[in-house]
Amino acid sequence: MPKINVTVNGRPVEIEQGATILDAAKLAQVKVPTLCHIEGLEPTGSCRICSVEVEGRRTLVPSCAEPATDGMEIKTNTPRVLTARRQMLQLLLANHPDDCLYCMRAGDCDLQQLAQDAGIRERAWRRGEHRSHPVDRSSPSVVRDPEKCILCGKCVRVCDEIQGVSAIDHAGRGFDSYVLPAFDDELASTVCVNCGQCVAICPTGALVERSDLSRVWRYLADESLVTVVQTAPAVRAALGLVYGFSGKDAEERMATALKQMGFDHVFDTQYSADLTIMEEGSELLKRIQDGGPLPLITSCSPGWIKFAEHFYPEYLDNLSTCKSPQQMLGAMAKTYWAEKMDIPPESIRVVSVMPCTAKKFEAERPEMETSGGRDVDAVITTRELIRAFAEMGLDFDTVEPGEFDNFLGSSTGAGAIFGATGGVAEAALRTVFNLLTGENPGPEDFSAVRGSDGVKEIELTLPDGSTVRGAVTHGLGNARRLMDQVAAGEKEYAFVEIMACPGGCVGGGGQPYGADTRRTAELAGELYKIDEERVIRFSHENPEVQRAYEEYLEEPLSHKSHEILHTHYRGRKKYTSEDDDRS
Ligand code: FES
Repeated sequence: MPKINVTVNGRPVEIEQGATILDAAKLAQVKVPTLCHIEGLEPTGSCRICSVEVEGRRTLVPSCAEPATDGMEIKTNTPRVLTARRQMLQLLLANHPDDCLYCMRAGDCDLQQLAQDAGIRERAWRRGEHRSHPVDRSSPSVVRDPEKCILCGKCVRVCDEIQGVSAIDHAGRGFDSYVLPAFDDELASTVCVNCGQCVAICPTGALVERSDLSRVWRYLADESLVTVVQTAPAVRAALGLVYGFSGKDAEERMATALKQMGFDHVFDTQYSADLTIMEEGSELLKRIQDGGPLPLITSCSPGWIKFAEHFYPEYLDNLSTCKSPQQMLGAMAKTYWAEKMDIPPESIRVVSVMPCTAKKFEAERPEMETSGGRDVDAVITTRELIRAFAEMGLDFDTVEPGEFDNFLGSSTGAGAIFGATGGVAEAALRTVFNLLTGENPGPEDFSAVRGSDGVKEIELTLPDGSTVRGAVTHGLGNARRLMDQVAAGEKEYAFVEIMACPGGCVGGGGQPYGADTRRTAELAGELYKIDEERVIRFSHENPEVQRAYEEYLEEPLSHKSHEILHTHYRGRKKYTSEDDDRS
């Protein structure tokens, strides 16, 4: 790629032809604020907060949307630029509700930060307190406050261009423009899959997760209850990043921190990830032997499940009947563990800490009930856990490393990698290989499913010389493309792993703000390190999972397993609450 030379605030920079002015500024280590820009997507130039001065141009130019040209002299901090930026912020603030002290993004809001950086201490204009759109709390996962929206359009683009869902869009004109679901319907009655990618990218708190933290504090304060918590693999990796520890160190400190929070028992979703592999690996082999339905498609991502229910109902029989690891752990805690501990299931409350907002929806699904009650009683995201630690004044740095409780806290390396795209497929193939050959595969045997490519393919040779092909994809836009190829007969697979979020659970909508591809790769790397360091790396070797089969479940796919660990899904139509056939 040919290079060009520009200057940014007088500093010479050499950059690839076609790069934007914003790229040049980054290379010169000059921070230009952005609101509507999304790395990797075509710029829209709609918010103009990134405007800069270019020598010889009469008007300011949006740096995210304008290509740099050879010899360009760029200035990012002239009085003209700074005044324009302040005015644009004032216009946005004129329309913005004043509850930033206590809104869900308080202290972590991009708009608030920009206003502070720009030295804005009071509002120049106020558009009145009239609220034309109420807060939408209909969704179990996402709360939507249209009045906080600054129309940057990032949520619309992520939902459409990355996730291929298009649950929300711009509506209205001029001052009456809003971002809304189709027909101004409540979010819960739309095709929204609850993935929370819009929440993760919204710069102002117009979209936030529905917090279940108050419910969790109530459980913890109720002495008649036995409280159990489980944490997904990606949570420990994110805590490590936030607090400055490796994934392994964060995992051990998190176990202690959750005890300090007041949980009676700290379990690990990685245990039930191992259990999922035992069931799903056996299900795959059974379907191959019985002639289908194939491909077997993974079912641990609730965003993907709802997407399939809306857009690919003809493939619902292809979904693995396994509940997700979150639901399996809840079901096992209220059956097997409850029996062994002689605790009535109705006095147990299972709380999950997940990187995913869709897990809140999953926990409330009517399909997810065993023992007469919900498998999981409350779900908080990684962000909510971090807020809980802050609320209780917990200093993560000084927390002593601890351990998960026996026996639902025991896990293998295979359970850890579930949090990264390709992890479920790799963990399953390790066990399938063993079931077929009686031997364990080598560490590199399934490395084709690692990495951040949108679609990855792999082939497994069976002992009879035949091969099975599989595919892995992440991000629902990629999933849609892959499913369309499968439907058109262009691709034939025995199994497909689909994760709704880009990068897999490490890139979930409930993770700390500021996700990008580099960060999700870093978090995945922490999970692979945990896997490498585990003494046991194969789900079928998890001694506690083996014990559960001996003492309770009998064998994978047994009648008992089916009762507790498996489920089925039903199709949904695409648009309004009237169309939704859940009821
Ligand atoms: Fe460049 Fe919005 S960030 S126009």
